[in-house]
Amino acid sequence: MDQGGRDGSAEEFLRDFAQLSTIGATPRGGVDREAATVRDGMARAWWGGWLASRGFAVHADAIGNQFGLLDLVPGAPYVLAGSHLDSQPTAGRLDGAYGVVAAGFAAHRVAAAARAGELRPTRNLAVVNWFNEEGSRFGPSMMGSAVFTGGLALDEALAATDPAGVGAREALDRIDARGAPGPLPVDSYAEIHIEQGRELEETGDRIGVVTGTWAARKFRFRVLGEQSHTGSTRMADRRDALLGASLLVVEARALADRFADGPLHTAVSRLDVRPNSPVVVASEVRANLDLRSPDPAVLDAAVERVRAVAARVEAEHGLRVELEPTHSWDRNDYQPECVAVSERVCAELGLAARRMLTVAGHDSTNMSAVVPTVMLFVPSREGISHNEREDTAPEDLVAGVDVLTGVVRELVTAPGGPGTWTSARMASTG
Ligand code: GLV
Ligand code: MN
Ligand code: MN
Repeated sequence: MDQGGRDGSAEEFLRDFAQLSTIGATPRGGVDREAATVRDGMARAWWGGWLASRGFAVHADAIGNQFGLLDLVPGAPYVLAGSHLDSQPTAGRLDGAYGVVAAGFAAHRVAAAARAGELRPTRNLAVVNWFNEEGSRFGPSMMGSAVFTGGLALDEALAATDPAGVGAREALDRIDARGAPGPLPVDSYAEIHIEQGRELEETGDRIGVVTGTWAARKFRFRVLGEQSHTGSTRMADRRDALLGASLLVVEARALADRFADGPLHTAVSRLDVRPNSPVVVASEVRANLDLRSPDPAVLDAAVERVRAVAARVEAEHGLRVELEPTHSWDRNDYQPECVAVSERVCAELGLAARRMLTVAGHDSTNMSAVVPTVMLFVPSREGISHNEREDTAPEDLVAGVDVLTGVVRELVTAPGGPGTWTSARMASTG
């Protein structure tokens, strides 16, 4: 594929990003590239080509994280930068993909400056496209970075199945995305992402310097009733699983109002109704529940309230409700020295920066547990995300690449450091 000039310019960035956005493009200007689908495979192939053409050594690890390595200092640890190319089913083109391409440009520019003798690197450079950040096809989200950082066992991740019963291992192998397990010594991590909220747009700041992550608790719930005739069964005899699930959906929304100052964000976003016939009272509903707050005490209180409502629904409607935790993360903070580096770079570039929390989870949430981690935002138009209309002004995209370049430059030339962390050798039974 002709990828044209390679000067690392803003025009080149916008041109290359537009080209990537044609892969899995949807009619309304978004993309559909769920993890380990053929379209994800095409995006990965395009990205592998982009990296190789600029001298990166490209490889994947055992969970399908795709790396590009640029060695500047033999034997030194890596400054890693990246995000994810996978998307929600009908998604915007920026969520994740922006951060991957921005990381490639930042690393390419810093390597060119090092080769030109303009800076003295003490670290090597690596770019990553994390596997399955979105968690829409295979759960949990942020899967590749969780395996990389040791928070999730490789075999458990590979055993995840999609709604059609296809396993992550099989799906990855179908697109030839799994490589050899191997440790990577990493010294720091940087990620840039669209904000997915309205804060920067409202304040007029150009860059969000993320200081911490909201906590999250995610559940799968099952409501079990009894299949019966929608017409002939007496109302008093019914054990309607869909009615029980609906009461929980409404309760989730009411909870967010109850803790409005918490604050608390809640959603039930997927329902699987069985047998899903217009003439049958549902026997079983499977659904998810997603709770987020910056305050873990609010989340604990919200979960307690959900359990109490589930018990009431069981008692009042002759149902059984099972609530199973599937994924959670705590409120955690990015290292202050990383916030300081980002603010210094923004000041040097004359860009107004704003400290903020991320409400969405990111792979940087996992990475910040093991190495000093920088997380940056660019503004999202109207805060729209997980929507094909997701958008960011081109000048903001380009400014973000410049900030990430400055950050990577600082990390790659940092004198000592808190030490190197080495990713686990990923053990798998096959
Ligand atoms: C990210 O994966 C999220 O759930 O926010
Ligand atoms: Mn994302
Ligand atoms: Mn997303």
